[in-house]
Amino acid sequence: MYPGIFESVLEATLPLYYPEGYYLPFSEKIKEAVGIPVSVVGKLMNPKVAEKALETGKCDLVSYTRPMFADSEIPNKMMQGRYDDIRRCCGCDHCVGDGFSGRMTECAINASFQREATYRIETAAVRKRVVIAGAGVGGLEAARVCATRGHEVLLFEKEPDVGGMIRDASKMPRLYMRELNYSVEWLSGQARKLGVQLKTGQEVTPALIEDLKPDAIVVATGSRPVVPAEIPGIDLPHVMTQEHYLKQGGKVEVGKNVVVIGGQFGAELCLSLAREGRNVTMIEEGHGNVASAPYLVKTVTRYIYCNVHLNKDQVNVRTGMKVNEIRPASIICTDSDGDSEEFAADTVFLCLPRAAENRLSAALKEEFAVGDAYHAGAAYNGTKLQLGDKPCDLYELGDCVEPRTMKEAIHQASLFCLAI
Ligand SMILES: Cc1cc2nc3c(=O)[nH]c(=O)nc-3n(C[C@H](O)[C@H](O)[C@H](O)COP(=O)(O)OP(=O)(O)OC[C@H]3O[C@@H](n4cnc5c(N)ncnc54)[C@H](O)[C@@H]3O)c2cc1C
Ligand SMILES: Cc1cc2nc3c(=O)[nH]c(=O)nc-3n(C[C@H](O)[C@H](O)[C@H](O)COP(=O)(O)O)c2cc1C
Ligand code: SF4
Repeated sequence: MYPGIFESVLEATLPLYYPEGYYLPFSEKIKEAVGIPVSVVGKLMNPKVAEKALETGKCDLVSYTRPMFADSEIPNKMMQGRYDDIRRCCGCDHCVGDGFSGRMTECAINASFQREATYRIETAAVRKRVVIAGAGVGGLEAARVCATRGHEVLLFEKEPDVGGMIRDASKMPRLYMRELNYSVEWLSGQARKLGVQLKTGQEVTPALIEDLKPDAIVVATGSRPVVPAEIPGIDLPHVMTQEHYLKQGGKVEVGKNVVVIGGQFGAELCLSLAREGRNVTMIEEGHGNVASAPYLVKTVTRYIYCNVHLNKDQVNVRTGMKVNEIRPASIICTDSDGDSEEFAADTVFLCLPRAAENRLSAALKEEFAVGDAYHAGAAYNGTKLQLGDKPCDLYELGDCVEPRTMKEAIHQASLFCLAI
């Protein structure tokens, strides 16, 4: 079923925030009322959910749109029982944003979609030793592509778990975001099957690189939070970054009155906190900058639904507000007329635009760079390093170049690694 008119088109491609199989309750009712086969769409990316819907008679057929963008082999893989190999759509709606914006529709997690005629991961002529720094989605996809090409792949992650910022974002307590982690689950499963040597809890340093003497290094070290030291009170114990909160899966002490600084990146956190029954105030310095992080704006649906819910969930959205000072139980701001206002704040969250974590690549270039690495016909040119008597190519991708979205990180990895 499809909800028909143009005004309701957003309802068809519901993003994260809404459960898988969101139209199954409707197809079940329709099936009771009509005597013909009923087909249903809507986030049936999990094969088990789709099969159960058929088995329990909620529909006669399941239809796929986005799940087939993410993996056109779903039906074959299901018939072969290869459930773990299915690259599940994660409901991020990058593809929908492309459609609404007149761009070529691409899938954030599958760079080969729309490139079927040209995209090939072929075995490399020479097997190389490739070291990858960072096991976020960019580093994981780089590992998958390099290992598929037959390279020896050593993947290092400084945290105890893989998945980087996408894993953290999927842990939002009261906003349905967990499908985001499907991309991490699939990539890490494929990397394991392909023999990637993963070491977690290990930070990559120039000394480690010198020791390992790889033929190529992929730096996919992501981004880091920005904490504006100039704001008085920023070091108080009730102030924390969104990243810290998400890494703990929200299992930290949070008071009744909450202020979230940064409406572009903090909008989804505001929703989750408001749904826990807290009084949430969003403080955003820009005008009209609410829910405008790239991963929200570019998907269109998430941007729209996020704004709708901020209103419904009664988040106190205050734009054009500059933070002057954080106090133990409040925060002092100035509006665009220069008037001062105080907001009660038992807990303060920092959700500011992030900085590229490029310290490893900067240090490697500083110590070892000898020129550019040119690859005829490749999507990317790296930097040539000399590690003693060993030449080595350096590639940088994803948020460590510039914080953006998982689409850039995964697509760059899919394309750049064809040159290694
Ligand atoms: C709150 C939030 C929500 C988001 N939601 C979305 C979304 O819904 N959709 C979307 O498309 N994008 C989203 N993004 C953006 C997205 O998370 C990033 O664009 C994406 O994660 C970039 O992938 P990456 O692999 O480049 O970096 P990361 O995911 O940041 O991974 C980098 C990894 O490198 C590791 N690392 C760093 N230095 C070293 C080192 N020296 N040695 C070893 N390991 C190291 C880090 O620990 C980390 O695991 C969100 C961002 C934020 C902040
Ligand atoms: C990029 C894109 C374009 C779409 N275009 C149409 C369309 O032209 N007509 C239509 O009826 N549905 C269209 N849809 C909606 C899908 O048919 C489907 O109802 C919706 O994506 C939900 O199913 P899914 O979760 O399997 O993607 C489109 C969906 C996407 C993602
Ligand atoms: S872009 Fe996101 S929503 Fe669209 S098919 Fe790919 S994973 Fe699914």
